[in-house]
Amino acid sequence: MNVLFIGDIVGSVGRAAVKKVLPALQSKYNPHIIIANGENAAAGRGITAAIVKELLDAGVHGITMGNHTWDNKDIFEWIDDQHRIVRPANYAEGLPGQGATIIKANGKELAIMNLQGRTFLPPIDCPFRKADELITELQQKTKNILVDFHAEATSEKIAMGWYLDGRASIVLGTHTHVQTNDDTVLPGGTAYITDVGMVGPKNGVLGMEREAVLHKFLTQLPTRFVVDEGDWHFHAIVVEIDDATGKAKKIQKVRLTETDWLLM
Ligand SMILES: [Fe+2]
Ligand SMILES: [Fe+2]
Repeated sequence: MNVLFIGDIVGSVGRAAVKKVLPALQSKYNPHIIIANGENAAAGRGITAAIVKELLDAGVHGITMGNHTWDNKDIFEWIDDQHRIVRPANYAEGLPGQGATIIKANGKELAIMNLQGRTFLPPIDCPFRKADELITELQQKTKNILVDFHAEATSEKIAMGWYLDGRASIVLGTHTHVQTNDDTVLPGGTAYITDVGMVGPKNGVLGMEREAVLHKFLTQLPTRFVVDEGDWHFHAIVVEIDDATGKAKKIQKVRLTETDWLLM
């Protein structure tokens, strides 16, 4: 089975890019299951029910989140009814939503799990122990498991890759919005990349308008960031998994700019 995972989609520019690029990627890579990180899909902050529908209608089968999960307050009203979305599993017990689920599409089945790191991020529950617990549960149902580890520190993400090698089909990082060049299949058969990257405005700072970000760095004053406009870039990965074993066979990066897409 082929899995396409799209990095953090930022705002309306990112959503428009997904809709433009997906048909070409579907013909090129033949992905059976498409997953995207949606934590910044609503103007950079969280996601709404309408945007979940927009992404699912565009061809995305499952959505992972991150530290911006709760930014849009309407999420509390619908997250428990939306089984195609996962938020970090290592949040406090009893919070709305789910940390893992099984996505079925095109005759294939993939468990998706979301975890959040604790290095340079709030000190939530241990993502490593939560991964152990959930993988044991998910393995009863499927061998094909994708883990989106939403974390800041490269060390914490690489450590998670090694920790889950041989137990997950894919361990990928999100959150930094910068695609890393370390995609590999680890010895136990886990496809790994420290960060998939982002989809959204190319000339800002991680998708945000650069003037506001620079103002904050220069003055240290509280500053409201807004999503940038203009040209976009699109970062994703495609992983081939041997369905019978759940082991990854191949991982490749996708990196496109608006100009590349116009030439496609
Ligand atoms: Fe993000
Ligand atoms: Fe994030």
